[in-house]
Amino acid sequence: MSSGHVLPTRTRCDRTPAWAQLQAHFEGAGRGFDLRGAFAAEPERFERLSLQAPHVFADLSKNLIDAPAEALLLQLARETGLEAYRDAMFAGAAINHTEQRAVMHWLLRNPAPALDVPGHAATKNVAGALAEGLQDVHATLDAMLQLAERVRADDAITDVVNIGIGGSDLGPSMAVKALEELCHPGKRMHFVSNVDGMELGRVLRQLKPESTLFLVASKTFTTAETMSNAHAARDWFIAHGGSDDRAAPLSLSRHFYALTTNVEAAAKFGIDTTLGFWDWVGGRYSLWSAIGLPIAIAIGAEHFRALLAGAHAMDEHFRTAPLERNLPVRLGLLDVWYRNFHGFTSRSVAPYSHGLRRLPAYLQQLEMESNGKGVDAQGQRLPFATSPVVWGEPGTNGQHAFFQMIHQGTDVIPVEFIALRQGGADLPAQHPRLLANALAQARALMLGKDSEDGHRHFTGNRPSTFLLLDRLEPAALGALIALYEHRVFVTGAIWGINSFDQWGVELGKVLAKDLEPRLASGDVQGLDASTAGLMRRLMPQG
Ligand code: F6P
Repeated sequence: MSSGHVLPTRTRCDRTPAWAQLQAHFEGAGRGFDLRGAFAAEPERFERLSLQAPHVFADLSKNLIDAPAEALLLQLARETGLEAYRDAMFAGAAINHTEQRAVMHWLLRNPAPALDVPGHAATKNVAGALAEGLQDVHATLDAMLQLAERVRADDAITDVVNIGIGGSDLGPSMAVKALEELCHPGKRMHFVSNVDGMELGRVLRQLKPESTLFLVASKTFTTAETMSNAHAARDWFIAHGGSDDRAAPLSLSRHFYALTTNVEAAAKFGIDTTLGFWDWVGGRYSLWSAIGLPIAIAIGAEHFRALLAGAHAMDEHFRTAPLERNLPVRLGLLDVWYRNFHGFTSRSVAPYSHGLRRLPAYLQQLEMESNGKGVDAQGQRLPFATSPVVWGEPGTNGQHAFFQMIHQGTDVIPVEFIALRQGGADLPAQHPRLLANALAQARALMLGKDSEDGHRHFTGNRPSTFLLLDRLEPAALGALIALYEHRVFVTGAIWGINSFDQWGVELGKVLAKDLEPRLASGDVQGLDASTAGLMRRLMPQG
């Protein structure tokens, strides 16, 4: 479904007046900017550079940015046509133009049409074909949540195994870990993604077929890793007394569900219960759709709806807040400033929350698969850099691993701290210690420390952003994820790229298909010398 909305004209960032002005400002004042001096000169800096978005408070004041750079970046956003492009996404235009698809993961969290009351923002943001789509979305959501509640109530099912990869794994797996305190105590949730048999093998060894539900999660239902694991799980199920026969007491039909847009392929696999979704939901934006079933099973329908509501609140913020106070816009502009003017090549994400330990992995796909592009929307090679490397580990663990480099290494790496005002239920006395560490790291990075001994000298002036949630509950998590989704939209819009395709993953898939039979046959003909040499070493010894 797409609304038929005409695609707006976009101006690539390097062709705007603001781009050249930013370059000049960077050379004049940006390169030598000093955070400590900026705080000394402007006592209101924290107030001016912090903002509250739904569920997320952000302190941007410890970033290498002054008021003229901010103004120029906002000018850049306007000159590239960011607002019209954002509105086109919310109007259902086919902005994923290389695949002729609309980009409407946001519709999945829009309140149901029946809940629309006059004056409520939701009434204004969907019309025509989209309103029909929204009804469809809610019919599917209701069915999914009913199914989730049935599984939750079924004491015979103790283990749920999600088999999926990329967007069909990372989002649900991250969210289930984040919301662990709300998870059903009688359901063990497993996530299997890798085609390395060690992962599925280890999970299967803990299971009994009669108490296990497998969820085969794949938007396309063709992804090699997922299909391989799904077939292996089915073989295991049959080998342990399961049956293809729907009437059998241990039937495949009762123990395998599919979450996919490819309902036909799921039926061919032998699955009767399929939750569908739509091609306008990108894989890495799909945890709000049927792909979210494992989350709904783990936390229940009410909490899943709260997750959607938090994300919707952030959608509305992104859609309506003025650019100056629009958090996804402000973060995206900072990313452009750092990547294209300072030349920083990576950004480290440091959630000071064990619950958010998989957030960096999730963000790697979201950001790098979306914005790791080398050509613009017209397919022209870009003369500037796009996605930074996004990486990280939860604090305080990272402090005892790679923070050495962030404090004293030769590269400047902006850090994104994420902290919770209120910690989890376990060992609450430790929470202030965790928070003190997050604050201390951000402060140390900024202030540095003079020493005549070079080894003990910290240059300081190292930037960081601090994101603060009240606590790790579904609405806040939903808002946080939507914040990142929209920030990726903003940078992609400014760079003039298509953030919603992923052609770069195709070539490796094709080559793997060619190499797998060669590993068995030993045929190295036509291969480069390195691959051939490695193949000879990897082939089973005769
Ligand atoms: O190969 C990349 C990719 O297409 C991702 O974009 C996607 O999230 C993942 O594979 C899994 O795809 P599917 O859900 O179709 O199995």
